[in-house]
Amino acid sequence: MNKKIAVMRGDGIGPEIVTEAIRVLEKVAEKFGHSFSYTELLMGGCSIDATGEPLTEETLASAKACDAVLLGAIGGDVGKSPWYRLPPDKRPEAGLLKLRKGLGLFANIRPAKLFPELADACPLKPELTEGGFDFVVMRELTGGLYFGARETVTENGVRHAVDTLTYDENEIRRIAVQAFEIARKRNRRVCSVDKANVLDSSRLWRAVAEEVAADYPDVTLTHMLVDNCAMQLVRAPKQFDVILTENMFGDILSDEASMVTGSIGMLASASLGEGSFGLYEPSHGSAPDIAGQDKANPLATILSAAMMLRYSFDMEAEADAVENAVSQVLRDGIRTGDIAAPGETVIGCHAMGTAVCERI
Ligand code: IPM
Ligand code: MG
Repeated sequence: MNKKIAVMRGDGIGPEIVTEAIRVLEKVAEKFGHSFSYTELLMGGCSIDATGEPLTEETLASAKACDAVLLGAIGGDVGKSPWYRLPPDKRPEAGLLKLRKGLGLFANIRPAKLFPELADACPLKPELTEGGFDFVVMRELTGGLYFGARETVTENGVRHAVDTLTYDENEIRRIAVQAFEIARKRNRRVCSVDKANVLDSSRLWRAVAEEVAADYPDVTLTHMLVDNCAMQLVRAPKQFDVILTENMFGDILSDEASMVTGSIGMLASASLGEGSFGLYEPSHGSAPDIAGQDKANPLATILSAAMMLRYSFDMEAEADAVENAVSQVLRDGIRTGDIAAPGETVIGCHAMGTAVCERI
């Protein structure tokens, strides 16, 4: 198969981790007889430096013309980088939000998995995580507070800021459908997370989740309030299979979920729309403090490329080959600094990419 991949390396460690993911994709192409072409595009701080905009219309159009997007990470040090002296809609993160919206990527899947080889890195007590855990956060990505009307005004000398949390039932239904479809391929349990004891948008969310559940009698739906969910994630993470939630709650809970795995440098993500097009990126940030030093862990980006193979290209065996190679690397005790236990030998980003390629 021939596939066109838009590559957005981004900022900080983005370029180096994407380099390793592309090396892995090339190894897959060679082994399985595919050909991938790469269109390099600028988004985030690097695009601001080159064009003055975090994402230009031409870049968005070029991305749309590809089969999928592979993204590194964007943004810089908020305290230091000149990007953060620009108006909010000109900053690196605005490019990411425009990209998600412009590509119609309403479903964000963030797996949270305890890798058995890295169990020592998990900050929870071993008795809470015995046997491991493996769930995904399905975060709505193009609605809610992130895209509702906002403004800051001064009335009678008093500054007043407003953000709007808005959802219509169609936005809720399409992400709920995705959550149930994914649950069918997993352990058939959806936990819908909301704040229905306070918010109207959450009461609608809950009602629509129930309606969708009626079409999936083989999947069990439960509801949980978001504050309770934040607590349950550190109390009993094993209880979850698919967590379905709105944009802002998902932003917060997915960071918490990644922390309880103890290895955020390992966690991939996929953002999907209606068709097979998707955007794939690691769940971690651009880590400007270690950029360009060959210290970053490329495994989350490599695992994101595996998700691309599976979800956008329908290449199951190829995705398995990458995921198995990563597991083998871990079993072989190969570690970047972020996942090394005291005394373990640490290798760099490029050597880690090589280690994965060798096991495909
Ligand atoms: C994420 C990030 C973004 C978000 C930021 C960078 C705008 O935190 O992908 O989770 O809030 O969605
Ligand atoms: Mg976030």
